[in-house]
This record gives sequence, structure tokens and C-alpha cells, in this order.
Amino acid sequence: MIWFDDRFVPASEVSVSYLDRGYCFGDGIYEVFRVYGGHIYEAEAHYDRLERSAGGIRLRLPFGREEISAIVRELIERTKLESGSVYLQITRGVAPRAHGFPSDAHPILMVYGTPSKRPLNAIREGIAAVTREDRRWLHCDLKTLNLLGSVLVKQEALDEGADDAILHRDGFITEASSSNVMIVADGTLWTHPADHLVLHGITRAVVLRLAREAGIPVKEQPFPLNALQNAEELFVTSTLLEIAPVVKLNGQPLGGGRPGPVIRKLQAMFEATIPESERDSKGEDKR
Ligand code: PDD
Repeated sequence: MIWFDDRFVPASEVSVSYLDRGYCFGDGIYEVFRVYGGHIYEAEAHYDRLERSAGGIRLRLPFGREEISAIVRELIERTKLESGSVYLQITRGVAPRAHGFPSDAHPILMVYGTPSKRPLNAIREGIAAVTREDRRWLHCDLKTLNLLGSVLVKQEALDEGADDAILHRDGFITEASSSNVMIVADGTLWTHPADHLVLHGITRAVVLRLAREAGIPVKEQPFPLNALQNAEELFVTSTLLEIAPVVKLNGQPLGGGRPGPVIRKLQAMFEATIPESERDSKGEDKR
């Protein structure tokens, strides 16, 4: 069961028009939510960002925030989604192909859920990353469907046997293909400022809040590419990965190949923010 346009329908009955602007132009926006214990984690922050993304591409949301959040909650109930993710996207709708905005199309909302376990292997053991130049456009703060820049670097990472690509622009680290990047250097937590060059990650904001609570100094300032190799700790944050240590960079082990103490501290604090039923998960996602 998924939400498509104006109703819940069995997924097998959905057909997307070949003229949908999401399909032809990548003309739309999206959110990925984490569901823990049947509830959306940090829901309001996601809806704030959805509204900001819509404003950034001049897209009129087809429903108000309350209606969208009611649809998401009903989807979770109908599909009995306890643990997993919800994908939500809104395209500018169906219209004859022309670059300018159509005058009579209406935006189309699509929402579906996917059960999944927390990626405990990545969280505990860490991931491998490679570095790549950031060739994406200059509105990475908007969560749009134009993801080719991210798709290509992610595939390059996978082709090299790594898990993800960490991006740099003009010699400074921005973020990873679908997560934010943080380092610990001289006991301080560094991450790129939340400007137009990175997505303002919900997990990023949670982790910075937790770090400040723990008395860890935080610098939201750009840091150079070579700071990765010299960092005491390196990790990425996202809704799906939570806090994942990077233990291998461009084929070389980092930090002895084990997650460092600041990462472990932040992971423990993060665990405390999710429902208890999700904390001792024995099952692991295959990655
Ligand atoms: N990606 N940076 C980019 C480019 C992202 O695509 C994402 C999320 C993040 C992390 O943001 P958050 O903490 O709000 O999930 C940072 C989602 C999960 C995706 O596209 O699947």
C-alpha cells in the first residue's frame, strides 16, 4: 500500500505518467524519514526541510503540513511499519514537456514505507570511503530529485569496493554522497557549515546538539581535504546510517580501523534518543 497523488493504493496499481516532470526533468523534492518503534524520528525537522526545499524550487505543496503528516502516519499504520524508512516525494506534476513551469499541472505526492533494521554492522564496524571531487550543483541544501551527481560518485565508490564517496569542492570537504561528514581533530568536532553546499542533515543537527551537550567543542567550518587523513576520527551521519565511522579511506585504514571514543560516545547518546525497543536489535541489515 502506498500513497499516490490523492489516495492510498496497492503499489502494483500505481502507474506514473511518462510526462511526469519528476520523470522527465528530476523536477521535484523528497524526504527520507526513519521509523523507530512505529514513529517518525525528528518528524518536524523533516517537514521544515520539506517546506524549505519546496520554496527553493518554487513548488506549491499539494497538501498542508498537517495533512501530509497525517498521510505519513496513516501509511505507517496501514502497513504496520514498526522499523524502517518512509520515502516521500513530490513532483511538479504531469504536463507536456517544456522547461518552463506548467500553468495547469498539479504537484503529485508519493509516499511509501520500507521495513528495515538498523545498519548495525556499519554502525559498529564502520565503512570504507573514497574521496571524489564534488561536481554537484550549487543548491545542495535543497533535497531535490536531481541526484545524478550523488549517484555517479556513489557508484564509483562501489566500483572500488568502498561503501561511499566523500566529496570535496575547491579543496574543502563538503559532505558524502548521501550523508554529512564530520571529523574529530584536536578533540574538536568539525563539519561543513549548513550553507548551500551541503544538505542540512537532520542527523547532523542531532549529532551537533548531542556533542554540545557532551561538552565536545564543535566547529561548523570548512576543513581541507588533507584533514581527513590526519583526523583522529572520521564519520558520516544520515537518517539511514545514523552515525557510521569511516575506518578506511582511499584503501588506507584510519584510526587503527576501529571507531574512536568520540564516535562511540555520540553513538551511545544517539541510541538514547530512539525508542528502547530499537536499542538492542539483534538482527542486522545486509549491506
Ligand atoms: N540522504 N547529505 C546528503 C547529500 C543526503 O542525501 C543526506 C540524506 C544527508 C543526511 O541527511 P539526513 O541526516 O537528514 O538524512 C546528507 C537520504 C537518507 C537519501 O537520499 O537517501
